[in-house]
Amino acid sequence: MSNLSPYKIINSKNASTLKFFHNDCLNGMKNNIVSDSIDVVVTSPPYNICINYNTYRDDLPRKAYLDKLKRVSLEIKRVLKDNGSYFLNVGNKPTDQWIAWDVVSMLRGEFVLQNVIHWIKSIAINKPEVRGCSNIIEDIAVGHFKPIVSKRFLNDCHEYIFHFTKDGNRVLDKLSVGVPYQDKSNIGRWKTAKQDRRDRGNTWFIPYDTIQKRKDRPHPASFPVRLPEMCIKLHGLKDNMVILDPFMGIGSTAVASSRLGVSFIGFEIDKEYIDETILRVGSKVEPFNDMVM
Ligand SMILES: C[S@@+](CC[C@H](N)C(=O)[O-])C[C@H]1O[C@@H](n2cnc3c(N)ncnc32)[C@H](O)[C@@H]1O
Repeated sequence: MSNLSPYKIINSKNASTLKFFHNDCLNGMKNNIVSDSIDVVVTSPPYNICINYNTYRDDLPRKAYLDKLKRVSLEIKRVLKDNGSYFLNVGNKPTDQWIAWDVVSMLRGEFVLQNVIHWIKSIAINKPEVRGCSNIIEDIAVGHFKPIVSKRFLNDCHEYIFHFTKDGNRVLDKLSVGVPYQDKSNIGRWKTAKQDRRDRGNTWFIPYDTIQKRKDRPHPASFPVRLPEMCIKLHGLKDNMVILDPFMGIGSTAVASSRLGVSFIGFEIDKEYIDETILRVGSKVEPFNDMVM
């Protein structure tokens, strides 16, 4: 079935493999992935906002951009198992707040939009608003964002993660990314509250790692490894599962897959980003700490 040789295959934990293709994802998927074989897709395509990637030109006319993403998504639909999950991370820019919504609308009719998750990069909490919460002793502001110098636009502190499935019926492992109850008296009081863990909800605070130098994050638009980790766990971990990222970048989804001990297939058109991915998955792979942040 495979027409193209992978750029690199790395054996990982639990007999899983990580396959990296230096190739356009549309041709790559067509030539290398059989139908109904992928459990979870976690990906962040270019947003078409003139990001300065090494190779890719991020400035297509809107229609061409949406058409391209639709063709990729239809190919994802073909390779995704019937009970698979497609997590699509998209954001906007201040002067164009419709990008994410144009993308999601274009996929209406192809997938069921089972969940909309808000990736919160930074949040400010005023103490008076959480008076009863003894852990918060003063006003706090946590996380990172790129400040926007403008009198018109707010700093952009979130992006979307659209969770598509084929029929909207995927049963999720919500507690695998759950949080402890604030009020412990809930445990046992509710039929569903059997342990100190509840559904986190659809606002996920996932800060970027603090970096000292640009070279510590050698890609202009990578997401934190926590993001694909949480998506994969939410879908539900099982033996022999395969994760796909058609727009791999420097491989954050590959690193998450490797740490979780599941197989991964990724496509990327830029060789330097693939080499960086290989370095990242090859460096000492720490298991994830407990999810509670
Ligand atoms: C938003 S970035 C993904 C970043 C990734 N999530 C990470 O954390 O590193 C999108 C990536 O898609 C790549 N790309 C653009 N068009 C592509 C195509 N047709 N096939 C494969 N990769 C492509 C770009 O080079 C860029 O690295």
